[in-house]
Amino acid sequence: RRGPPGVFVIFGGGGDLTHRLLVPALYNLANARLLDSHFSIIVVDRADVSAADLRQSFHDSLENFVTSRGTEAVSLHDDVWTRLSSSIDYVRGSFEEAATYDALARKIGNQNCIFYLAVAARFFGTIVDQLGVSGLAKESGKVFRRVIIEKPFGSDLASAIALNERLLRTLDESQIYRIDHYLGKETVQNILALRFSNGFFEPLWNRDNIDHVQITAAETVGVEQRARFYESTGAVRDMVPNHVMQLLAMTAMEAPISFDADAVRDEKTKVLKAIHAVQHHDVVRGQYAAGSIKEQPVVGYRDEPGVDPHSHTETYVAMKLMIDNWRWAGVPFYVRTGKRLAARKTEIAVHFKSAPYALFRDTPVDKLTPNIMLLHIQPTEGVTLQFSAKIPGPTVHLGGVRMKFDYSEWFHEGPSTGYETLLYDCMIGDATLFQRADNIEAGWRVVQPVLEWMHAPAGLDFYAAGSEGPKAADDLLARDHRHWLKIG
Ligand code: BG6
Repeated sequence: RRGPPGVFVIFGGGGDLTHRLLVPALYNLANARLLDSHFSIIVVDRADVSAADLRQSFHDSLENFVTSRGTEAVSLHDDVWTRLSSSIDYVRGSFEEAATYDALARKIGNQNCIFYLAVAARFFGTIVDQLGVSGLAKESGKVFRRVIIEKPFGSDLASAIALNERLLRTLDESQIYRIDHYLGKETVQNILALRFSNGFFEPLWNRDNIDHVQITAAETVGVEQRARFYESTGAVRDMVPNHVMQLLAMTAMEAPISFDADAVRDEKTKVLKAIHAVQHHDVVRGQYAAGSIKEQPVVGYRDEPGVDPHSHTETYVAMKLMIDNWRWAGVPFYVRTGKRLAARKTEIAVHFKSAPYALFRDTPVDKLTPNIMLLHIQPTEGVTLQFSAKIPGPTVHLGGVRMKFDYSEWFHEGPSTGYETLLYDCMIGDATLFQRADNIEAGWRVVQPVLEWMHAPAGLDFYAAGSEGPKAADDLLARDHRHWLKIG
């Protein structure tokens, strides 16, 4: 079904996010005939460019889609692009000045409108205040006004609460769509389908049968051109309260009573609130030193352009989290994320308890293959089950085997940016895949103790670029007689 007619306003439309993700996602929606014939785009930014220049630069970057598997080239359908691009208009102006909003209001009139804030976080509050003052945020009758907010949503618990309060002075919660692009990934959404639409996983999904869970979000890229942002952000803020907590919530939440946005978000918040206050000795912060990625030497974080040579910003974090509820009591969730690691890999590994050892006398117990269910989020997307099977032959020997479902092999989907579903859902008013104020705050609450200790320079462990991460992270699991699955 097509989305409703209306205007999609992008604040900060000249930037990277708009070029690499938003416009390609809108193009994909147009191509799938999911946009109304009265759908148009207005870009708001400060640069002195014409709408024609902007259309051309969007066209250039459209040729390479950024997908969860990497960058993929696609051949554009010219008719789809021509129609979409002819709907793109430009408003030049500062985000702080009333005149910008007056100009916008004249163009929008009484249409439905989505305001996408693809801007630096310091503008979130200002833009929403101005939308309020200018009357642009006001809904009337069936005309909707919605605001999509990017991350980072605050820089700690207090600032996230303050930002929520500020937004809610102008907007109703139902108008706010706080984006976490991890929720746009098919395989993240698939976690709920897998758990709750099948009969055989959920009965085992608890402390009686699961030994522990490992969540990994590993990247090979370093800080790239983002030193200014990253120096004051670091891996904990950048990845944990948002992306990693989304993965954890999807894996650990109770079944919602329906797929209604609030029913799903209630359960996600509940499980995040059940995470036990994290202890200092259960957290490892690391920073990459020089090393090599794909056999190419790379510099350490402190030698990256724009980074303080004595920086204590972490580029890696591993944590052991315990969830205090009936389902998960006693089951550790080990999470880790970092830059410049051995491979790009996001996955959730659910380690089941071993079968009672009695029958297989010729197979020493440490050779039994652990039963693991791997949920591959990226770059491969799918699910693998690892279990033991009899090795063919006259004697009983067991070997590890794998059963694999590969998303792209099965469904043959074209490349998508991951933003299509999110943008479309906002158009039709479905907030299930967006974060409510309490979800965001619950994520920050988990990392808040870590943010408080972080002021102390001690406790930063170094790891070579291209490695599996700091040794201290291995020790974190070794203490519990467990070990991480290999990243590379
Ligand atoms: C972003 C972070 O939110 O997520 C980046 O700011 C990180 O630092 C990125 O690289 C990872 O996203 P993905 O989709 O590549 O896993």
